[in-house]
Amino acid sequence: MAALTTVTVDLPAGGYDVVVGDGAMRELPALVAVRVPGARHAAIVTDEHVAAQSWFGAIDPGIDAAVFTVAPGERVKQLATVETLCRGFARAGIGRADVVVSVGGGVVSDLAGFAAAVYHRGIAYCNVATTLLAQVDAAIGGKTGVDLPEGKNLAGAFWQPHGVLCDSALLATLPEREWACGRGEMAKYAFLGVPALIDLPLVDQIAACVRLKAAAVAGDERETSGGARVLLNYGHTLAHALEAAALDKGHPDALAHGEAVAIGLVFAALLARRLGRIGDDRVAAHLEVVERFGLSGALPPSLVEVDPEELISYMARDKKAAHDLTFVLDGARGLELVHGVDPSDVDAAYADLRALRWGPAAPGGPACT
Ligand SMILES: NC(=O)c1ccc[n+]([C@@H]2O[C@H](COP(=O)([O-])OP(=O)(O)OC[C@H]3O[C@@H](n4cnc5c(N)ncnc54)[C@H](O)[C@@H]3O)[C@@H](O)[C@H]2O)c1
Ligand SMILES: [Zn+2]
Repeated sequence: MAALTTVTVDLPAGGYDVVVGDGAMRELPALVAVRVPGARHAAIVTDEHVAAQSWFGAIDPGIDAAVFTVAPGERVKQLATVETLCRGFARAGIGRADVVVSVGGGVVSDLAGFAAAVYHRGIAYCNVATTLLAQVDAAIGGKTGVDLPEGKNLAGAFWQPHGVLCDSALLATLPEREWACGRGEMAKYAFLGVPALIDLPLVDQIAACVRLKAAAVAGDERETSGGARVLLNYGHTLAHALEAAALDKGHPDALAHGEAVAIGLVFAALLARRLGRIGDDRVAAHLEVVERFGLSGALPPSLVEVDPEELISYMARDKKAAHDLTFVLDGARGLELVHGVDPSDVDAAYADLRALRWGPAAPGGPACT
């Protein structure tokens, strides 16, 4: 077996390890035995796609386990599913000292983590992250929760896992669009401290992202305003607005989250240039990183006509924006949170973005020219 990399998330209450590499899932029995020694039963939470993979049967927490399978996709991330899971846990005799094991992408870890946070007022959980996005982002950091009809991730809890396993071998079965999602988040990390990220082997790319996420979480466990964790939202203000607009316009599949983040990163660079924070060279660097990750910085055809006013109203509503237009922006001191951005500058940067052409691919996906 290839060597595994361990990254520790240091937290005042003790922290936990994230194990990255080919075969990391085989660490699960040891993780449960060492970190949740009192557990007699495990509740494995997964979705139907993941449960159907040939490797799923090899998931072994080392103790008696019951499997709880939810439907795949974001729609299942709702309070009603948490109730169904908790009731299932109760019927299966999962007790206070037992453990929830999430096996899946970010939907499953958000859901299972939240169920673990509220069941018996909080029991232990571990994440076996099976999407690239979950391995570099969602499975780490203890943000758990569900969506409400009024908005994404509106109900949840900070509840840290006891350990996270990022097994790169499990990504072999991941559909291409899900790879694109993960690569969008990876492109974000390239601006958070590892500019040459794309040149590393996949396992090292994942480990580098995990280190950045772990450091941000350790410095700011609960995402306080102005804390280190807010920089993880780089590219996300426009991304969330575009995702909301796509949904509203009846194009729910126009943009996967990572694809929206790629556009959001380029938009953030265009906005930073409008504000005199960076020059053309940094804008070009953003386009290059996004393209090298096989994504496009340009708007997809179905969204080019979305009115900037509408996007600005979504951005002002974004929960990260507090009361004004707030963006994480590049500048001479690197990334920082910038408050009070003038809507006219957002308009102008959006016009620059619209002028980018959605074109055929650099290897792996569409690129802008
Ligand atoms: N808590 C956080 O800090 C955080 C951070 C980022 C994103 N998120 C959340 O994560 C969610 C998105 O996560 P995601 O992109 O992992 O989506 P996901 O969990 O829906 O997984 C994507 C799809 O891939 C399938 N799948 C998963 N692993 C597979 C594998 N190895 N082989 C084949 N198919 C596989 C799933 O069944 C699903 O259909 C969103 O709800 C988002 O809000 C949370
Ligand atoms: Zn994201």
